[in-house]
Amino acid sequence: MPDTAKLILGEKSYDLPVITGTENEKAIDITSLRNSTGYITMDSGFMNTGAAVSNITYLDGELGILRYRGIPIEQLAEQSTFVETAYLLIYGTLPNKEELGKWSQALTENSYIHEDMKHFFDGYPSTAHPMAILSSMVSTLSIHNSWALKPNLNEAEKYRMFVLLLAKMRTIAAYSYKKSIGEPYIYPTDNFSYCANFMNMMFAHPSRHYEVNETLVKALNLIFVLHADHEQNCSTSTVRLVGSSKSNLFATISAGIGALWGPLHGGANQEVIEMLEQIRDDGGNVKKWVEKAKDKDSGFRLYGFGHRVYKNFDPRANIIKKSANEVLDALGIEDPLLEIAKKLEEAALSDQYFIDKKLYPNVDFYSGIILKAMGIPVNMFTVMFAIGRLPGWLAHWKEMVEAPDFKINRPRQIYHGPAINNYIPLDLRK
Ligand code: SDX
Repeated sequence: MPDTAKLILGEKSYDLPVITGTENEKAIDITSLRNSTGYITMDSGFMNTGAAVSNITYLDGELGILRYRGIPIEQLAEQSTFVETAYLLIYGTLPNKEELGKWSQALTENSYIHEDMKHFFDGYPSTAHPMAILSSMVSTLSIHNSWALKPNLNEAEKYRMFVLLLAKMRTIAAYSYKKSIGEPYIYPTDNFSYCANFMNMMFAHPSRHYEVNETLVKALNLIFVLHADHEQNCSTSTVRLVGSSKSNLFATISAGIGALWGPLHGGANQEVIEMLEQIRDDGGNVKKWVEKAKDKDSGFRLYGFGHRVYKNFDPRANIIKKSANEVLDALGIEDPLLEIAKKLEEAALSDQYFIDKKLYPNVDFYSGIILKAMGIPVNMFTVMFAIGRLPGWLAHWKEMVEAPDFKINRPRQIYHGPAINNYIPLDLRK
């Protein structure tokens, strides 16, 4: 294959370099295009546009491959923990015993939030959506860590930032739940691992004994590992864009949370459960809802189905589906929504519309079943996605600010507005 692409514009032709990836993916490098031709490219939704050369995550949408720093997601799901996977994504290698010990200890020691921050929760109504609380409280962390507002952090300061965000976002999430049910906040403790601490902060209470369930801790680790990164998805691209202005990392992550909240992205896991409940309440006629999803005028989509990259299957969905069965069996829960989900998947995957459009279950389709079994309220499902995705956001931010070709992201446009015209004084307007 030539390592250049030839662009012919009128009488002129231009050679554009071709970039080849580790797995032989190909890209035409148009960095010089506007200066040499005066042209830009257009690509609505960035369907065909690479925003970065990255070493973090590899996806193959046709083969259903997902690897973090080269390690297949199936191996990490089986053998790793969220804390270890977070380190792998951010620093590029699996931590040795000493590195992992230091990292885990730092996360434990930094999991409290400033006591003043608890007063912010007083201002939120109990009905506040926890994603709104999360994005504002993460941005508020910058008030208590003004040292991190400078545009260039050194290695030690970046490490401290990553620890603060990973440790405190989990606490903010748990406090938002306690606030919504009017229960006292439960402080993080040194006795628990990262995921066990979260479960304890969510469900313990001073007046009742709460036993952390190891099956649920294992399932939560799995959910977080599977959500930890996904290359240039909408929220990660948002973090890269906002971070490229050298805005502080708290504000940058808060922007990523906002992007993730959308029902087409991370908000889909909440939509899936609400959709399954709607189908259950409507008598469980999955065929009817599959037909509805095919009807463009219905405005209804099968949430948890389809993906911009995966056009065969989402490997994460397969892993989560297996874990959903195991968790429900271990807890002795018969959740009718799981049966409806399986019937819906079967009906959709045998329907020509879904086959032709290559729409398969994605990571969000089954994750809600497990989160619901854990007792996580539905409106916190996307918060769980955000906690899981945080290491990916941090890894991409680090890679972006340290890139040799770092620059502020500022796309171009083609203008289709009115040609030049003049201001009309108010009393002369029709
Ligand atoms: C995540 O990017 C990532 O990596 C995201 C993510 C991550 O880890 O970060 O994997 C997490 O966001 C998973 C996706 C969660 N979203 C949903 O489950 C929402 C439902 N899915 C869709 O809205 C849609 O499939 C998207 C948003 C996921 C992908 O949208 P695309 O790539 O822009 O595709 P599209 O909307 O143009 O759909 C192509 C066709 C359309 O029909 P035509 O216009 O060609 O006739 O497929 C149809 C769509 O109408 N279609 C669906 C459908 N998804 C797409 N029809 C019915 N139900 C659906 N779910």
